[in-house]
Amino acid sequence: MELSGELVGEIRQVADNYPNARSAIMPALYLAQAQYQYLETDVLRAVAVTLDVPEIWVFELATFYTMYHTEPVGKYHIQLCTNVSCLLGKAEHLKQYMEERLQIETGETTEDGKFTLSKVECIGSCDKAPAMMVNQDYYENLDQVFVEQILDRLMVQSSSDQET
Ligand code: FES
Repeated sequence: MELSGELVGEIRQVADNYPNARSAIMPALYLAQAQYQYLETDVLRAVAVTLDVPEIWVFELATFYTMYHTEPVGKYHIQLCTNVSCLLGKAEHLKQYMEERLQIETGETTEDGKFTLSKVECIGSCDKAPAMMVNQDYYENLDQVFVEQILDRLMVQSSSDQET
């Protein structure tokens, strides 16, 4: 596959800010993900071609960092941290609560494609644990009531998005 001319232009423009093409892979992946929602193999290959770097450099970054999606995710991607600080803050309980509420297991997407629940290892909010991200937004000092409010709001928001 070929990336759109616009995306290729954006990637090349970003790459000009770095001393070498390898350093531009992460921002290039962000740009590609913003366009395609997730980074399938052909997109990763096309990013490598655009930056003229070995495919393996692109693949290893895209599969290492949880902010890149190599599989489709729901409209709201919930990434709950279950590392030490968050685990001590009862993240496991919050995970179970969300699994029950969304009727999915961690790693799955709801049937309507709205919510994906993932478990991640530290999102840098250890001092405000437990914490999670929904897409790019951080939610910290979580408890069940707060998580319930967040899910309620997202459900209302996703319903009103459908109506418009
Ligand atoms: S351990 Fe959860 S944010 Fe760092």
